[in-house]
Amino acid sequence: MNHFDAMGRALELAWKGWGRVAPNPLVGAVVLQGNSVVAEGWHAEFGGPHAEAAALVSAGPAARGATVVVTLEPCNHQGQQPPCTEALIAAGVGRVIAAAPDPNPVASGGAARLESAGIPVEVGLRRAEAEAQNASFWHRWSGKPRPFVALKLATSLDARIADHSGHSRWISGEEARDYVHWLRAGFAGIAVGGHTARVDNASLTVRGSVTPRRVPTRVVFSRHVELTPGLDLVRTAREIPTVLLTEVTGPSAHLADLEDAGVRVHRVASLADGLAALSMEGVDSLLVEGGGRLAGALLEAGLVDRYYWIQSPVWLGDKGIPAISGFAGTSLVEAERWSVVERRPLGQDTLLVVDREPCSPA
Ligand SMILES: NC(=O)c1ccc[n+]([C@@H]2O[C@H](COP(=O)([O-])OP(=O)(O)OC[C@H]3O[C@@H](n4cnc5c(N)ncnc54)[C@H](OP(=O)(O)O)[C@@H]3O)[C@@H](O)[C@H]2O)c1
Repeated sequence: MNHFDAMGRALELAWKGWGRVAPNPLVGAVVLQGNSVVAEGWHAEFGGPHAEAAALVSAGPAARGATVVVTLEPCNHQGQQPPCTEALIAAGVGRVIAAAPDPNPVASGGAARLESAGIPVEVGLRRAEAEAQNASFWHRWSGKPRPFVALKLATSLDARIADHSGHSRWISGEEARDYVHWLRAGFAGIAVGGHTARVDNASLTVRGSVTPRRVPTRVVFSRHVELTPGLDLVRTAREIPTVLLTEVTGPSAHLADLEDAGVRVHRVASLADGLAALSMEGVDSLLVEGGGRLAGALLEAGLVDRYYWIQSPVWLGDKGIPAISGFAGTSLVEAERWSVVERRPLGQDTLLVVDREPCSPA
């Protein structure tokens, strides 16, 4: 296997930590002797062994003189685990190839430490893919006072998220819905607009193949705050963390009732303010699942970092509910062009993932 493909395999292995390692990054590693893979490893659990350490254990004596291909620069500090640099030096590896430098100032410096021990290090192979895989981790170092915000919508071919009567179940097929449950597991929060919370009675829970280490906080953006006690979100607010972000300023008996039901209420002045409040609660990544007016308002405010678009082969027509509304946009000349991160079929549907900007300058 060549180095490019070995990094591809390491990226694939890193996904095994999805939902289990955040706020740590996903990391995968492959140990090569010549062109043969002798061991693999990945960061499987928060606080558990790092990918390189797991791969070295699996390689045993075969690590001596080997090339270690890893998706993130090996860490150079004692945290819950010992520094990977020291494990690589002790194992006598011959060379390290890392996709991306570690942006965490506490853990970085791994490449320099390895080189000082005589181990050549190359950083940058498939860097953009590695950074996109850990977009919320990279966002933490961006200095923005808000979570990494990803928008996810399932739309018709003509970009409608519901039919003329507001029905959206189900625009997409089973594979896409399974994908969404997998996706939710990797986010610290899952959000909807007030209207979607009311009409869909969404439970916003994770019911897929991955059980997340942190149960995602459910978030409702609402201005008028008409959330009845019978809604699933309100009924289960004592068991599953649920936050209401509202722009209501005066006294409100309705808000007091919601708080009694276990909903944490934040009175905020704007969407950006609401996102900052979520950051303060430890919600470092947020998956916004619609509807169209909330999506448009977030785009208009420049608060979306990534868009997961699931497009389904169905037409809903002019009377359907638009996927995005309230987003003024610009001329084509001035319009932002986002970068494609992923494009693949999900059964009969198609997934497109785009990022507003690369995680770090190339
Ligand atoms: N296919 C999909 O992926 C998908 C996903 C979600 C929803 N849907 C469908 O979409 C429909 C709902 O979409 P929608 O566009 O009508 O409503 P929406 O975006 O879910 O909700 C809009 C509401 O968000 C709240 N909000 C808070 N801050 C806001 C701001 N700055 N700007 C705009 N809204 C803000 C307000 O809630 P208050 O009214 O409480 O003040 C507003 O009424 C439903 O039919 C649902 O089934 C489809």
